[in-house]
Amino acid sequence: MDLQALLDGIVAELAERRGEGKVADYIPQLAKVDPHQFGIAVTTVDGKVYEAGDAAVPFSIQSISKVFMLTLALGKVGEALWRRVGREPSGTAFNSIVQLEHEHGIPRNPFINAGAIVVCDLVLAGYKPKEAIGEFLRFVRSLADDDTITIDKAVAQSETATGYRNYALANFMRSFNNLQHDVDHVLGVYFHQCALAMTCRQLSRAGLFLAARGADPIGGYSVVSEKRARRINALMLTCGHYDGSGDFAFHVGLPGKSGVGGGIMAIAPGKASIAVWSPGLNKVGNSALGTVALEMLASRTGWSVFGA
Ligand code: DON
Repeated sequence: MDLQALLDGIVAELAERRGEGKVADYIPQLAKVDPHQFGIAVTTVDGKVYEAGDAAVPFSIQSISKVFMLTLALGKVGEALWRRVGREPSGTAFNSIVQLEHEHGIPRNPFINAGAIVVCDLVLAGYKPKEAIGEFLRFVRSLADDDTITIDKAVAQSETATGYRNYALANFMRSFNNLQHDVDHVLGVYFHQCALAMTCRQLSRAGLFLAARGADPIGGYSVVSEKRARRINALMLTCGHYDGSGDFAFHVGLPGKSGVGGGIMAIAPGKASIAVWSPGLNKVGNSALGTVALEMLASRTGWSVFGA
């Protein structure tokens, strides 16, 4: 299989559709991004990297960061994490508050905003917010084997200034004692985590351990156990696209995590880690062209977890 030709083909076929979807504007800094950009990168478990389009342009990874923060939190507190966050798809928007009251402040899963905020609270234990953010950044840099990765401070500030809904979610959970730290501190970690800027190339490299049974096949070390990698992939498949998760499984058939910056990280277990980016979003807040590109890639490679 000629993966480079496959990616070049996808970029060429989607050229006329660049700009489709709607760029997220509830975070003012994201509204400034040129919607015509499109990048894709694949890192295979045998260490080869393929890329096409704007794969070297950094973008705001937003909710994709939740996969890395969850990995860090599981390393820190282990299975105890699941006493405070569920593992079921929500069927509601990423920033929805409705289920929280019925379910006593326990978020449905770690990828909706409420769940990711609890995960930040867990990572914050024993740290000042800046130290927790520093640990997170070091972790992602080590996964991507790239120390140039940074947090976009303008995006973090923009979201801090307008994140009313996340403040509401955090305060609500605090009232149920499902946050142990100061709401401002927890959200400080969360907003900075979401503001991580990465290229498709860096992101596909950082996700490689999830395609390779929890180990980094290039660095030759274990990141998480095989069982944990399998479980993180299961959560990405069932919850990674919020109320669009079923449709993503139907069309693409890979564990994936989206972000409102227009990125998607997808995992083909045993084969490769994939990152795609196009800023325009579909109705449920996932990259419109990114989803189309992944559907093309999965069908042409036969990589769907449900069979070729
Ligand atoms: O908290 C927020 O709303 C954003 N920082 C992240 C949301 C996001 O990326 C949802 N994914 N599609």
